[in-house]
Amino acid sequence: MSHEVVVIEGDGIGREVVPAAVEVLEALPVDFEFVAAEAGDETREATGEALPDATYDLAADADATLFGAAGETAADVILPLREAVDSFVNVRPAKAYPGVDALRPGTDVVFLRENTEGVYAGHEDRLSEGLSTLTRVVTSSASRELAEYACEFVTDGRGPAGDPEEGFTVAHKANVMRETDGRFREAVLAVAEERGVDADEELMDAFATKLPLDPSQYGVIVCPNLAGDVLSDLAAGLVGGLGLLPSANVGHDNALFEPVHGTAPDIAGEGVANPTAAILSAAMLVEYLGHVPEGQQVRNAVEGVLSDGPRTGDLGGSATTDEVTAAVVDRL
Ligand code: NAI
Ligand code: MG
Repeated sequence: MSHEVVVIEGDGIGREVVPAAVEVLEALPVDFEFVAAEAGDETREATGEALPDATYDLAADADATLFGAAGETAADVILPLREAVDSFVNVRPAKAYPGVDALRPGTDVVFLRENTEGVYAGHEDRLSEGLSTLTRVVTSSASRELAEYACEFVTDGRGPAGDPEEGFTVAHKANVMRETDGRFREAVLAVAEERGVDADEELMDAFATKLPLDPSQYGVIVCPNLAGDVLSDLAAGLVGGLGLLPSANVGHDNALFEPVHGTAPDIAGEGVANPTAAILSAAMLVEYLGHVPEGQQVRNAVEGVLSDGPRTGDLGGSATTDEVTAAVVDRL
C-alpha cells in the first residue's frame, strides 16, 4: 500500500533540508506517493496567503505531512497545519549523539507536550489601555488523551530506555495553578494508574534545574503546552544544537513531522544546512506509518554519520547538505 505524504518545504533552509529528507525516504523499501504543497513567506508574496486552502486541505487528507519551516509567517502556517492534522500531542525527542559536542552527553529524553490548549488556546484580551489578560484552558479530556498517548508510548517501548517499565514524568505547577494544572495533573496521574504505568511528578520550575544538572534521570516527560515548549527547547540546548532536533505533531488519524529549527536565514541558499533534524523527522514519519524497522534503520544511519562524519558546519565540519544526505543514503 502506498502512503500519501504531503511535502511542504516552506522557506529558507526548508527548501534544502526537506528534499534531503525525501531523498532518504525514497531510499527505503516503502511505497510513498509524495504530493508537493506550498506555504510560507514566499507563498504569501506570490498568492497573498501564507497557507493556501489547497495546502491545508491536502495536509488534512494525507496520510502524513512533512514540513520544513516558514519565516515570518511561521505562526500563520504551523498553527493551522497542526489543526489540519488534528494534532493533540507534540512529540519532541532530544538525544545527545556520539560524535556531537553536547553540553550534556547523557541526555536522551522525549517530551510529550499537550498541543491544543493551556495558554496557547488563544484567549487573550486587552481590557484597558494598561491591562491585558490571558485565559488558560485545561480540559480533563485533552489531558487524559495526552496521558493515554504517553501510556501507549511507554508500554510500546518507544521511550528512550525502550523499556515499558520506565514509565514517565509529568511536569506541572499544580501547587500554584491549582485549578488548571491541578486538573491536568489529576487527569494524567489517573490515566497512568488505570493503565498500570509508573508516573513520577516534578514541579516544572524545579525540573528546569534538575534536568540540565542530570538529564540521565529522565526519559519520557509529559507536559502542558507552554511548559513543554519551553522545557523541550531547554533540552535542545543540552544536546548540541537545533540542526539535530526532529518533532512530530500527532493526531488521531493523521500527523505532521517537522524539524524544530526555523528557516536559518543566515545560511539559507548556501547548501550547508544540517539535514539531520529533517531526516530524523522523516524517520518519525516512517515509524508513524507503521514501518518501525525502517524508521530505526534511518536513525542508525544518521547516528553513524554523526559519529564518523561527514558533518556540516554547525557541528564543526565543512560538509554540504548533499554530502551528509548522500552519506546517510549510502549507509541505508
Ligand atoms: P532558526 O532555527 O532558523 O536559526 C537559529 C540558528 O540556528 C541560526 O544561526 C541557524 O543558522 C542555526 N540553524 C538552524 N537550523 C539549522 C540547521 N538545520 N543547520 C545548521 N544550522 C541551523 O531560528 P531563528 O533564527 O530564530 O528564526 C529564523 C526564522 O525562522 C524566523 O523567521 C522564524 O519565524 C522562523 N521559524 C520558523 C519555525 C517553523 O517554521 N516551525 C520555527 C522557528 C523559527
Ligand atoms: Mg518553540
